[in-house]
Amino acid sequence: MSIEGKSAGMVINADLGKHTIDKNIYGHFAEHLGRCIYDGIFVGKGSPIPNTDGIRIDIVEALKKIRIPLIRWPGGCFADEYHWKDGIGPQSDRKRMINTHWGGVVEDNSFGTHEFFRLCELLETEPYICGNVGSGTVQEMSEWVEYMNFDGESPMANLRRKNGQDKAWGLKYFGVGNENWGCGGKMRAEFYADQYRRYTTYARDYGNYPLYRIAAGPRNENYHWTKVLMEEAGYCMNGLALHYYTRLGDKNQTIVQPDGNEIYIHHPEISRRSATEFGEEEWFGIMKSSWKTDELVSKHSAIMDIYDPEKRVALIVDEWGTWFDNEPGTNPGFLYQQNTLRDALSAAIALNIFNNHADRVRMTNIAQTINVLQAMVLTEGSRMILTPTYHVFDLFKEHQNGTLLPVSMDVPDYIYNGETLPGLSVSASRSKKGEVFITIANPDPVHGVEVKLEIRPLLPKNISGRILSSPAMQDHNTFDDADKVRPERYTGVESSGGALRLTVPKRSVVSLLCS
Ligand code: AHR
Repeated sequence: MSIEGKSAGMVINADLGKHTIDKNIYGHFAEHLGRCIYDGIFVGKGSPIPNTDGIRIDIVEALKKIRIPLIRWPGGCFADEYHWKDGIGPQSDRKRMINTHWGGVVEDNSFGTHEFFRLCELLETEPYICGNVGSGTVQEMSEWVEYMNFDGESPMANLRRKNGQDKAWGLKYFGVGNENWGCGGKMRAEFYADQYRRYTTYARDYGNYPLYRIAAGPRNENYHWTKVLMEEAGYCMNGLALHYYTRLGDKNQTIVQPDGNEIYIHHPEISRRSATEFGEEEWFGIMKSSWKTDELVSKHSAIMDIYDPEKRVALIVDEWGTWFDNEPGTNPGFLYQQNTLRDALSAAIALNIFNNHADRVRMTNIAQTINVLQAMVLTEGSRMILTPTYHVFDLFKEHQNGTLLPVSMDVPDYIYNGETLPGLSVSASRSKKGEVFITIANPDPVHGVEVKLEIRPLLPKNISGRILSSPAMQDHNTFDDADKVRPERYTGVESSGGALRLTVPKRSVVSLLCS
């Protein structure tokens, strides 16, 4: 045991592993909320900010570097108020509406279906669209799918052509509503299951474009929702979408009714939990809340196993991330928050958990890509900064489509105020080329951990490492100091006695590519 640290042992069997870490676990979410779409992604063709068809070039370049595989749009709560026909045709003729959920601002619909597909094309990423069940009709949803996916002669396909898109886009991932237990209609699970069956029937498969249908899933521990959805509608869905946010002092309330359904009451009062001003108590609280992801994924998966033992239906965590107070002086309805080293550790823990559940979890979407909640990028006018969370996605990207490797380990606890959490979070994968990729997060802000790492059957010869850390827990990047938290090369691995030895410093995330 080191003077300042603790010790751990890990064994990775590189010749084992059955499940693929779906690259879509590294998916993203972009809603018409605050400055995510407008300002963040889309500035319009006439903007002095360099853009392609109105889409910011700097954002596209930044997101391409972390290989984002998929992006979910247009919401969120916005999805169940969104009427897609308002967002097609000449931009100047598009209907203006009030974004009642998010800040009551005017939505001019200048970013619509065509602009979203253009964004995905520029990012070389897969689109995931969420349809409107809460306030939209079956016909409206059905026609949207026809507009996007039908290549023949039909009213919607012809309308698409008239609007400048000849070929169908061939959308695959389609969500049938969002949070329909809450902002998407306050439905009971039984009612939503029937609605899901009805809406999904008319969201047709066209030609070579079968839809991958995603049902709105539960919030947090709403196991009743998962049970009912799997029982009543599991046979006609490809994925069920869990939403879980990592937060402190959540004042929202859920009341469980006698029939098992929850009434969710959104609390408008802000909880006064700063994204940047905190001590170890709040740091520990966020780490604990991040680890809760493991419990939720395990328990929802166990229910799904009863109805779907072959694991045909994916558990999709299509909204996750930290949720703090909005930055002082910003519109509370815009959910703009800073992003510190704490967010980085939280993301690393969550991503390791998702990887380790790759048998059931096949897609997740962090909320949200730009300027909202746990963002990758923050913008101010023409300037942009990368957040510590962005760097975690960069550090983890080699896991995409790798084979998950089992890791057996003996790790110390992270103890705070008499409570304990696992002292390290780890996942490992093998790439198609046979490289072993390992990501390790040490959430303890006081102790480093010395690790003895055995990789079997052969100890690798070449190791390239990267590390993300910073002197203070609260460190974050600002427009005046954009690189305060950024990854560095990590050279602390030594080979001795048939094993690798390394120290994972306090509050750090380390990635190792071994061949
Ligand atoms: O991501 C912000 C909001 O959180 C989404 O619109 C909603 O689905 C969730 O409650």
